Amino acid sequence: MRIAMIGAGYVGLVSGACFAEFGVDVCVVDTDAAKVEALRAGRIPIYEPGLDKLVEENARDGRLRFTTDTAEAIRNADAVFLAVGTPTRRGDGHADLTYVFAAAEGVAKAAERSIVLVTKSTVPVGTGRKIKEIVRRVRPDLEIEVASNPEFLREGSAIPDFMRPDRVVIGADSDRAFQVLRRLYRPLYLIETPILQTGLETAELIKYAANAFLATKITFINEMADLCEAVGADVHDVARGMGLDGRIGRKFLHPGPGYGGSCFPKDTLALARTAQDAGRPVRLVETTIAINDERKAAMADRVIAALGGDASGKTIAVLGLTFKPETDDMRDAPSLVILPKLAAAGATLRAYDPQPGHARQVLPGGMHFAVSPMEAVEGADAVVLLTEWNEFRALSPEKLRSAMRGRVALDLRNAWDPQSFREAGFEYQSIGRP
Ligand code: NAD
Ligand code: UGA
Repeated sequence: MRIAMIGAGYVGLVSGACFAEFGVDVCVVDTDAAKVEALRAGRIPIYEPGLDKLVEENARDGRLRFTTDTAEAIRNADAVFLAVGTPTRRGDGHADLTYVFAAAEGVAKAAERSIVLVTKSTVPVGTGRKIKEIVRRVRPDLEIEVASNPEFLREGSAIPDFMRPDRVVIGADSDRAFQVLRRLYRPLYLIETPILQTGLETAELIKYAANAFLATKITFINEMADLCEAVGADVHDVARGMGLDGRIGRKFLHPGPGYGGSCFPKDTLALARTAQDAGRPVRLVETTIAINDERKAAMADRVIAALGGDASGKTIAVLGLTFKPETDDMRDAPSLVILPKLAAAGATLRAYDPQPGHARQVLPGGMHFAVSPMEAVEGADAVVLLTEWNEFRALSPEKLRSAMRGRVALDLRNAWDPQSFREAGFEYQSIGRP
């Protein structure tokens, strides 16, 4: 089979490479010529574990190509996937569909024969119908089936998530679209992955409902963590005690500084706007958004309080800047809220992240980027663990303590062992643990 993937970002590149690994002939298109050039030269523009090898092997075997030319990419394609960004629209919180509509129009204009056009981007309910209208307006002569195939992969574990998903959702209203997508996902069908066939609107909503539910689950445990601190309970035991109930499940009950990333923040907001427009507000999701926003800001206050209520003239070492480990993605990372607040309070910041490429571009100037965790903590009054990269788990509290000037350690991911930090002389605080 042959497909075109429009968009070579976190989703388009990973899905394109994974489909190629399934044996599909894949052509990935991006309007960013520099990105396409880099990919053709074997350079991967993002950090995602295993992606370099997957791209290299499939490109070498001729199943994975990159271009800026939509017409070339979609020629003879059985399906064309849209995997372009759907960021928050400035000013109103809705999903910005500019890229999706532009890409759909580009495909319609370039198509030489009938096509199955599949949205893999996360798009608000009703977008598939709008895409149909656009195509009909641009190319009344052309037969195009529109389908929705939302993507559930996580950054940092994107390849295994794509290769062994919990389910595949296909929304469409034509047999041809279902058939083409089922054939593409045949390798997953063989490993008994549930493949859910629904209408277009249902598939679009499943994606937002899943993300909003997970964001709410995290927010719930974050509030339980705050309560644990007030009453002397341990949030990890609470999460375990809850999660062992099969109806609740153990995943996504890890407390932290608030969820971030390119998806939960924008998707919860877009869902809330869709629901308001439909006259059925989702108040639980609206509350989740508000609590999470407040939480990120509150984390900076917590650091300042641990420094005795005044951060001016203090040096703070920050370990981890990305929104989660094993990615270089900085979109909506808690660090983007917490670090500027600490800088505004007069602190000097020394930060370390294993993948600092994007962080350097988006964090305020004047901050020192260290080349190792140990260099970051040199002479610091406090160390804050913000993203739980594995390399931070193994740091020796004694070595950290002797490199630092002060004794404050704030572990906002509960990645360190409280007892060994206290024994090393730290005033150690974590989230929701006594
Ligand atoms: P991204 O910003 O990393 O990548 C989007 C790419 O599309 C960019 O390279 C951009 O240059 C390209 N592009 C824009 N317009 C184009 C056009 N007309 N033709 C060709 N290329 C074009 O975005 P992403 O993180 O991959 O997300 C894409 C979509 O997938 C979003 O809707 C997102 O919500 C959804 N999603 C993302 C993830 C994730 O983990 N990042 C997971 C599931 C779903
Ligand atoms: C999330 C979803 O998990 C994916 O299923 C979905 O496809 C994706 O969004 C999307 O739609 O783009 P991702 O944002 O890559 O994936 O990463 P997650 O592992 O979900 O983490 C999101 C945020 O929640 C991170 O800031 C993480 O630190 C935080 N988190 C996660 C917690 O604070 N606690 C947890 O228990 C889990």
